[in-house]
Amino acid sequence: MEALRIISEEHQNFWRIAITLEQVADEIDAGAPVDPVFFQSVFEYIEQFADYAHHLKEDDYLFRLMRLRSAESASLIDALQEDHRQASLHLEAMKAEFANASAGNQSALTESLRDYCRRLKTHIQTEETKAMPLARQVLLEQDWAEIDSKFLDNRDPVFGDQAQIRFRQLYHRVVSFAPESVGLGAHSSGVLQANTAPGMGDVLLKVTGLESSYGRIKALKGLNLEVRRGETVALVGANGAGKTTLLRTLSGVQPMGAGQIVFDGADISRVRSDQRMRRGICQSPEGRQVFGPLSIEDNLYLGAYTQPKHQVPEDLEKVYAMFPILKEKRKLPAGTLSGGQQQMLAIGRALMGRPKLLLLDEPSMGLAPLLVQEVFNVVKALKAQGMTIILAEQNAFAALALADRGYVLETGDIILTGSGKDLIHNEQVRAAYLGM
Ligand SMILES: Nc1ncnc2c1ncn2[C@@H]1O[C@H](COP(=O)(O)OP(=O)(O)OP(=O)(O)O)[C@@H](O)[C@H]1O
Ligand SMILES: [Mg+2]
Repeated sequence: MEALRIISEEHQNFWRIAITLEQVADEIDAGAPVDPVFFQSVFEYIEQFADYAHHLKEDDYLFRLMRLRSAESASLIDALQEDHRQASLHLEAMKAEFANASAGNQSALTESLRDYCRRLKTHIQTEETKAMPLARQVLLEQDWAEIDSKFLDNRDPVFGDQAQIRFRQLYHRVVSFAPESVGLGAHSSGVLQANTAPGMGDVLLKVTGLESSYGRIKALKGLNLEVRRGETVALVGANGAGKTTLLRTLSGVQPMGAGQIVFDGADISRVRSDQRMRRGICQSPEGRQVFGPLSIEDNLYLGAYTQPKHQVPEDLEKVYAMFPILKEKRKLPAGTLSGGQQQMLAIGRALMGRPKLLLLDEPSMGLAPLLVQEVFNVVKALKAQGMTIILAEQNAFAALALADRGYVLETGDIILTGSGKDLIHNEQVRAAYLGM
């Protein structure tokens, strides 16, 4: 039933877009200008992702087979498919209202936006609470095999890998152009470059028997962990499990009591944190920790202080291409950035150190809904470029969904490890961390 997980994930994205549009509608009603570039990016995203891919996928596979297996499902499916048709028409209507809005009639646009969002949310709720449970009930094993193989077909032109990259780019545009209150608020969208992922390499990091304490309290109790080159590894676990302590012990800012850390073929257990950074362990810390009074550009330079000077301008441009808002605001104090922009700065600063291993500590924490997905898109883009990443996240479901492997931490020790997919389906994990 991977298909249902994928559908639910897409629903979450639509929901985030809906919340954002509602907020933007409020702001327009309160006198904010209608930004044409933002709206065009939203329309394009909806058209390409919702109408062209998401609805089509449901109609052609899930709904078709549900009709076949259960006569009672017909009226429900009829209504949902009618929603799909109406949504396309509604999009055209919104575009027309948007064209009128430039002539001064903005209330019709905001009304149309709110109506669209209301219907979208109702539709998602119906699918989640009625259609998906019914599908679980009536579809047979062979149906799921057919649906899942289609949903997971990486070469499919409508929703395979290449299409996913295109959708992420479209989403990135929406986030960049969204007003600062809900997105990044840039005026040039930049690129979220993503090549195809390279295969896994040799072991880059090997941790054995790692201990670390705060006074007499042992926060890490002798844990073992391994990360291969090119891998994305998720660290999940409840508050206080030790995720942050583990990442800080790896980067060397937190002293270790016992154990060994081997990185890139060398024992770095006794190596200072600045030397670890020079060797390529770069961290985006919990709570971002950007230097508020310093300019954005100086914050980025700080991330490169272990690097040879001549490569810095080029790296700076790469970070700016990824996060155009940082370029626009480069001379301003970092403290003036919104939460989402600060998170991008914290990631950008870590990238300036040319990481061989990137440590991300709760990058989605405390962000507006639209930006939560954007952070995961950024991680996906970095992963696709071949970056090795350890991602600590309270958002366990999303982190495990994109990770190759995951470790589950509980009170300073690893209690479970496996592929991201296996952990998502693990009963223990679902009960403890996914709230299911
Ligand atoms: N500065 C500190 N002084 C004393 N104890 C600390 C300190 N920081 C963390 N701890 C303790 O160490 C343990 C691990 O905390 P840690 O912050 O590493 O967990 P975490 O998994 O990152 O949690 P969260 O999800 O809240 O970020 C907890 O019991 C915590 O209370
Ligand atoms: Mg933490």
